[in-house]
Amino acid sequence: MSQTQDLAVLLSDSDLFRSQGYINGQWVSASDGATFPLTNPATGAKLADMPHMPRTQVAEAIDAAKAALPSWSALTAYQRSAYLLKLHALMEQHVNDLGTILCVENGKPLAEAKGEIAYGASFMQWNAAEGLRTYGQTIPSPYPGTRNIVIKQPIGVCGLITPWNFPNAMITRKMAPALAAGCTVVIKAPAETPLSALAMAVLCERIGIPAGVVNVVVMDKGEKEAAAGLELCENPKVSKISFTGSTSVGRLLMKQSSSTLKKLSFELGGNAAFIIFDDADLETAVKGVIASKFRAAGQTCVCANRIFVHSKIYNEFASLLAEKVKELKVGNGMDEGVLIGPLVNVRGVEKVERHVQDAVSKGAKILVGGSRIKSENAEGESCFFQPTVLVDVPKECYVASEETFGPLAPLFKFDDEDDVVNRANSSEVGLAGYFFTKDLARSNRVAERLEVGMVGVNTGVIAQACIPFGGVKQSGFGREGGPGGINEFQIEKLITIGGI
Ligand code: SIN
Repeated sequence: MSQTQDLAVLLSDSDLFRSQGYINGQWVSASDGATFPLTNPATGAKLADMPHMPRTQVAEAIDAAKAALPSWSALTAYQRSAYLLKLHALMEQHVNDLGTILCVENGKPLAEAKGEIAYGASFMQWNAAEGLRTYGQTIPSPYPGTRNIVIKQPIGVCGLITPWNFPNAMITRKMAPALAAGCTVVIKAPAETPLSALAMAVLCERIGIPAGVVNVVVMDKGEKEAAAGLELCENPKVSKISFTGSTSVGRLLMKQSSSTLKKLSFELGGNAAFIIFDDADLETAVKGVIASKFRAAGQTCVCANRIFVHSKIYNEFASLLAEKVKELKVGNGMDEGVLIGPLVNVRGVEKVERHVQDAVSKGAKILVGGSRIKSENAEGESCFFQPTVLVDVPKECYVASEETFGPLAPLFKFDDEDDVVNRANSSEVGLAGYFFTKDLARSNRVAERLEVGMVGVNTGVIAQACIPFGGVKQSGFGREGGPGGINEFQIEKLITIGGI
């Protein structure tokens, strides 16, 4: 490790920077003393030695969450809502520090990182209100003197397994509805970005959320992480797993959870088609591609992966896009004006390289970018990749079938609506899809035909707390946010009363 970075000096409230886990209201190191180094992907500098917790500590966190459940779930929805509103206010108050922590551990540019904190806070606000409206039902009975009443109750202890690409918002998107519903949680923070999760635990502690209601466990990738997942899935005290991550890990967690038949909600990989019809407004479509493809340096599950452009406008669109992509400044996310940060690690860069090389070997041409940017990190390897546009991309190549998770925009050509919709749907996953057109009939037709959970029409931005976020096919199931998001953390209980 060549250098260390003192993150605390960048913060006005340095207490938000914690390098211990949070279990039962206590800040704790790994019980076996193990640690792992956390590094800044922009510089390779070490940020902290993080606890590398064993499975037994995950079990302790689950015990704490189970013990805290009766009193947390007994609060009124109004009391829990008040906690969420306080968290929302604190997140807004500390947006600079929370954004800085997020930027240095994830690489996302500071302005974008602060935007993620605002997005993360919006889940607190949304669920503070949703928690007040978890209405039950009364259902007329065919039997005389009988009443059917349906009430909503918290499902219990929830295991929240969250990804590094949205170190704050993917936690709040799960934690806020869980807490609002009356559940307690064990958050398995991602190994790449645990500091943002721990900063949220500091805020929970500050507003007096009781010990055990929110727990954060931390460990590096590898055996201990696999053991943590297994504990969350197999421990009978956990009633629900909410996971955002890859489809392959989702399959594994589902298998592991079958032993205790947990309720699951999974937001898994995507391979979004982004279709630009020949009647689209090209400037709007270019803006849409930039917003969707290059957000978080292309490391989002909903970002445009396969960009289909009608052959009549293909060349014009490609050059308009290329001009804009050339303007995207790449660098350390803490530097002024940077719009594209590093990828989270070298493995991410290697995948983008593999996708570019494969497409080029099959006939694609590089219009912009195409290579890694030299910048030494601790291992002498760079996590930066040039924002890239490929044209004449053939139908059969890795980028057509795999999520790139990097700043690579491949442009495929099409001629026919039916054909492009079939190509868009020829994926085993179906999270988001986008298209640009001015034709109202086509808007409705194509939106209904795309096999995805979310569609953007004439926009590349869909994420909001108020929408049902989630996919179909092997992109998972369950919805986060929106009017139904809180239901994922509740059970419906029927009470039938006779003899009335
Ligand atoms: C994701 O990529 O998993 C989440 C993106 C979003 O919330 O917009």
